[in-house]
Amino acid sequence: MLTRGGNAIDAAVAVAFALAVTYPEAGNLGGGGFMLVALADGRTAAIDYRETAPRRVDEALFLDARGAVDQERRAFGHHAVGVPGTVAGLAEAHRRFGTLPFAALVEPARRLAEEGIVVQPALAAGLAEHARDLARFPASAAQFLHADGTPVEAGERLVQRDLGNSLRWIAEGGAAAFYDGPIAALIAAEMARAGASLDARDFAEYRPIVRDVLAVRHRGAELLLMPPPSSGGVALAQMVALLAPFELRREGGFTPRARHLFAEASRRAFADRARWLGDPEASAIPVAMLLDEAHLAPLRATIDPQRASRSDAFGPPLAEPRGSSTTHFSIVDAAGNAVANTYTLEERFGGKLVAPGTGFLLNNELQDFNPQRGVTTRDGQIGTEPNLARGGRRPLSSMTPCIVRRDGEVVLVTGSPGGRTIISTVTQIVFDVLEFETPLPQAIARPRQHHGWFPDALRHEAALEEATRTALATYGHVVEPAKQRWQGDAHSIARDPTSGVVQAVADDRVEGWAAAPPDEAPPR
Ligand code: GLY
Repeated sequence: MLTRGGNAIDAAVAVAFALAVTYPEAGNLGGGGFMLVALADGRTAAIDYRETAPRRVDEALFLDARGAVDQERRAFGHHAVGVPGTVAGLAEAHRRFGTLPFAALVEPARRLAEEGIVVQPALAAGLAEHARDLARFPASAAQFLHADGTPVEAGERLVQRDLGNSLRWIAEGGAAAFYDGPIAALIAAEMARAGASLDARDFAEYRPIVRDVLAVRHRGAELLLMPPPSSGGVALAQMVALLAPFELRREGGFTPRARHLFAEASRRAFADRARWLGDPEASAIPVAMLLDEAHLAPLRATIDPQRASRSDAFGPPLAEPRGSSTTHFSIVDAAGNAVANTYTLEERFGGKLVAPGTGFLLNNELQDFNPQRGVTTRDGQIGTEPNLARGGRRPLSSMTPCIVRRDGEVVLVTGSPGGRTIISTVTQIVFDVLEFETPLPQAIARPRQHHGWFPDALRHEAALEEATRTALATYGHVVEPAKQRWQGDAHSIARDPTSGVVQAVADDRVEGWAAAPPDEAPPR
């Protein structure tokens, strides 16, 4: 799209549609997300296309007849599906900022679906892991599994005819084809068949919301972040503000002391997240209060530079994160326009459900709501009011797309998948680049950590050096390896505003790469 004269927003819309074909575990038409835009002329936008609870949903959504949480209903199938926002969000981004015809942005994805893609190792691994759950739903099985139930393997060609057909409808009819046309009708019919509440009116009423970006300053740079219903922007802003007076710059990098203080800031930001954050359309979210020094200074004063604190000191225990599937891409064009887009189906392959005739997986995003009012347990769940399920509400998200500007010019674009660990991953990269002036490739490669308040443990990637783990334990942290060997997949871009040189850095933890129009790419 850049080669054809389009801008970063055109490219982002085309990439997002294409990933729905090539990376269906997270790239999507049936989910939602956030797109941050920073234009070279100074304008910015935070496009919230998060899924919305159907209007007939209430906070008992995931409770069984005995009032217990029905985990099956949260994870699979029809009841956890929020109204997908992706198509509306991409159409809105194009309407406001795009320059190429919308159909031209959808066309490559349609071709990929109808002509087929060669399955890549990451997709094959995901399908192998989730084949049994995909097999629960006939249209999902037909799309991703062989007739004998075995998953499509790496190197095989995957043709997705129904998906190609949906993309053709969207190319021809725009977002209306999805929300007011054949796609909404197919999904509503499947929901009615299963007795779920999502219906055609929920689709017709869906709107993306274009919000003001959350902008904060650190080390002379301006951080552009996603406001609620993302919790990521507020948490990242809190963490860098809590850490600023410690002058970690003098450490010269992520030393054990820097990692200890980073974990302490993270512990406090996650406690605030659980207590205060939710959908700003549904209740007042005190963002200004949470970022005010009057709130941060006493919180900072509880940080002991020598000793880990205990999470119990900062409120009731909080749930363990579940494995989620989200994906992030960053784009900068030659004019300096930038997009940071993170979108998701919630878990890998969402709720594993494809509505017959549509060709794409539906999200189980309503799982991001707190399932039981007042029940906040050490190992299970959060029960605070701002994120209880309610018709029309958007569940709280951890997605943290981020654009950093200096003197009005974009210098960094980043973001990541990873459920609640997204916040830790993105904050670590931003902090590494701004505080320690670490070159982006090293910041992306550096072993990551996560402290999410509860469980009260500092989790790290397998690559974190033994000596650092030992040192962190001597601060009093419970130091544990992350369940997966890696944390996040943060495809990012650095830009030198003086020369205009753009450095795209693919995170090689999962799969992905950097690309540029042929006349702008360096020789390989
Ligand atoms: N479903 C993951 C997130 O929105 O944070």
